[in-house]
Amino acid sequence: MYVCNCNGIREREVRAAIENGARRPAEIFRACGAKPQCARCVCEMKEMAEDAAEALRYAAE
Ligand code: FES
Repeated sequence: MYVCNCNGIREREVRAAIENGARRPAEIFRACGAKPQCARCVCEMKEMAEDAAEALRYAAE
């Protein structure tokens, strides 16, 4: 499934970027070698990064 239609960035690529340390949409774009265009995907990227950070916090408890 595509998260960013403008750049053709798939969900698995966003997850890989997050696993490699990206925490903000700008870092996810950078990790994918892309730049935001319409920015419609930014909210979803942000949610994915926040969900991953929350999962890590729970795992650390
Ligand atoms: S959908 Fe990602 S920049 Fe447009």
